[in-house]
Amino acid sequence: FVFTKENEEKFQEQLKKYPNSDAMMLPCLWLVQEQENWISPEAMIFIANKLKKTPIQVYEVATFYTMFNLKPIGTYHIEVCKTLSCMLMGANDLIKFMKDTVGIEPGQTSEDGKFHLSAVECLGACGGAPMFAFNGVYKENQSVESLKKLVEGCK
Ligand code: FES
Repeated sequence: FVFTKENEEKFQEQLKKYPNSDAMMLPCLWLVQEQENWISPEAMIFIANKLKKTPIQVYEVATFYTMFNLKPIGTYHIEVCKTLSCMLMGANDLIKFMKDTVGIEPGQTSEDGKFHLSAVECLGACGGAPMFAFNGVYKENQSVESLKKLVEGCK
């Protein structure tokens, strides 16, 4: 694993803001995930070398946060909030739709590698319940209909 030219430039920019290698760990992990959609063991070793850390130090941080994917996921990552407000407003219907039409449950990737579904805790957008994140972009006030349109648009 190596950064793309563009991400290497972003890394160098971040380094100016965070000269401390501990503080650089999260921006670095985000860059890797942005590039590969997940954090591979090779990428952890790459980060360790870049930040003069041990691979286990990178592993500890990457595995602490649930937003980092530690295995390959689909092209489109749908994170449905399953906490109270979203649950009351229909999150389970969104999850059921994904199971019925795409054939995946939370934690699974579709056979064609396009979609990965996660059921996550509150994403802090409760006023827009039910909501989900679509490749990190918040989609609020959703419905089975709006999710259906989104999924069909990705096929
Ligand atoms: Fe879903 Fe807070 S309960 S965003």
